[in-house]
Amino acid sequence: MPQFPPDLREILAGARRVSVLTGSGVSAESGVPTFREAQTGLWARYHPEDLATPAAFERNPGLVWEWYAWRQDMIRQAQPNPAHLALVEMERHYPSFTLITQNVDGLHERAGSQNILELHGNILRARCVQEGTIVASWQNAVGGLPQCPHCGGLLRPDVVWFGEALPQETLDLAWHVAQNCDLFFSIGTSSVVHPAASLPYLALQNQIPVVEINPHETPLTRQADYQLPGPAGVVLPALVKEVWG
Ligand code: OAD
Repeated sequence: MPQFPPDLREILAGARRVSVLTGSGVSAESGVPTFREAQTGLWARYHPEDLATPAAFERNPGLVWEWYAWRQDMIRQAQPNPAHLALVEMERHYPSFTLITQNVDGLHERAGSQNILELHGNILRARCVQEGTIVASWQNAVGGLPQCPHCGGLLRPDVVWFGEALPQETLDLAWHVAQNCDLFFSIGTSSVVHPAASLPYLALQNQIPVVEINPHETPLTRQADYQLPGPAGVVLPALVKEVWG
């Protein structure tokens, strides 16, 4: 059982508005490979720009959809882990709780988290290229590509590709909650991919205590008020138990 600083327990127990940023480390214990880890076997010979850019999709939508269908299958087989479940439990204790995630696997939602901002989209959804409609289920055109059930147009995965902007409204909300909370967590993220990586620094600039949970050091570690080294699936449930029993 990890040891926690006593004042951290008080901060958690007294906070009313909590914001949490998560990255792929939170899904590691569910066995979800990161984008790069998934590039094994047949996919090892492709560069990310062949699979996850607007240009790649224009050039070869069939190849891009094959890659996404393969990853969707892996993600559907994965289950939320104790870190996802501890975050669901935490949300119940706060009047205001926002979970900002860079993960596209939808595991926070499946675990039962309610107030989620998906900065990079969700791999289990698709978006109509013509009308922008978001869909959660679809079929392929006969012998062809995923087709919008509303207008028959081409669908694309509803994720942010390399070189694309993050959804502005979601980003604005994330910016707001990072600066207007009593406590900010950065969990399982390498803290290098911006703009998400800027969020804990916004909290710090606003004198909001920042807690990092990560088994490895990141550029944030030395600036965070509390560093809880270790896997999120061990540290988070222990923290919840420490505060709420
Ligand atoms: P990274 O793969 O960059 O970093 C994962 C972090 O999780 C590392 O700092 C690990 O030390 C940590 N980690 C590993 N196992 C862990 C565990 N069990 N518990 C806690 N932490 C653990 O992933 P992200 O920071 O999420 O973007 O990367 C951000 C974005 O970069 C991704 O969303 C993706 C990528 O390019 C897009 O797809 C647009």
